[in-house]
Amino acid sequence: MTALTQLSQAIHDAPRWHQAEQFQDGSEIRIEPQHDQALGAVVYGLDARKAQSGETIYRLKQALAEHLILIFKQQTLDDLQYLAFASYFGSIFRPGADIPVLASQDETGTPPDVVPVSNAVGKGDYTGHGELAAHADHQWTPLPSFGSLLYAIELPQDGGQTSWFNTIRAYEALDDATKQHLDQLQLITYNPFVRAKSNKGTNGYGSTPLYRFKDQPIVGHAYPHPLVRTHPESGRKGLWLNERSEVELVNYDDQAGSELIASLREHLLKPEFRYEHQWQQGDVVFWDNQVTLHSRRPFPAEQRRLLKRISLAGGRPF
Ligand code: OGA
Ligand code: MN
Repeated sequence: MTALTQLSQAIHDAPRWHQAEQFQDGSEIRIEPQHDQALGAVVYGLDARKAQSGETIYRLKQALAEHLILIFKQQTLDDLQYLAFASYFGSIFRPGADIPVLASQDETGTPPDVVPVSNAVGKGDYTGHGELAAHADHQWTPLPSFGSLLYAIELPQDGGQTSWFNTIRAYEALDDATKQHLDQLQLITYNPFVRAKSNKGTNGYGSTPLYRFKDQPIVGHAYPHPLVRTHPESGRKGLWLNERSEVELVNYDDQAGSELIASLREHLLKPEFRYEHQWQQGDVVFWDNQVTLHSRRPFPAEQRRLLKRISLAGGRPF
């Protein structure tokens, strides 16, 4: 027999229902919305190593669609347990080898199912210790992931907080004329990992323009998506634009387009749309990439930080 993939192994090894002590009692789970924040609910009493009932998973999916991020406290997971839990919510995000993303491997062109997000694991140091501008994971791909999870294993003493932004609230705060105008627009978000590859030596976003004017070269392929996307479960609309990628509005005047995008970016990042998470070891945060952005504060290079990320596959934005 051939060896199993990590994902098949995870589900093969998952707890079986006859072992009562490994089956989560759903009545132990509390989901507490963060009413004083722009988004988020905290989930207490759930052990993600255990088998979960259908009611529990459905409850969590509904809570995610409503609160946009779920914060699970006090988890202790190995990679297989983490994959088995994440898979209740969808397929693992596996882009084609033609689409470079964070942690794409030279040998396969694709990322591992569990991505170390760390300054502390040698070869797997994909994000360093600097600030990360607000983004949705894999926004620049033809089929962006619908959600991601981060699991906190080692944390620095200082900095490294992650913030999430509620892009539904940001859209709803616009006036009606602006909403109607934006509803008609498509946006191309160019893949920063293509630029990084073609620009060896320069790091990340440093030299990336914020908007492509038509006389500038196109770096990579273009996948236009709606600037305002509709959440597939709740039907609510959110802005689908990040803080710092090179973008371009389809069939739009260069100067007007770059000014519109700059003003929307400023709007999106307002504090009233933001929740900043102070990580505790054992936290798993599960967020909806379709209607949130996330950013990270820098932290000192000499302090270790290790989180692990799993991203789930999504459909074509509409
Ligand atoms: C990511 C990411 C933020 C962080 O892994 O997609 O944006 O806080 N991480 O490390
Ligand atoms: Mn991210």
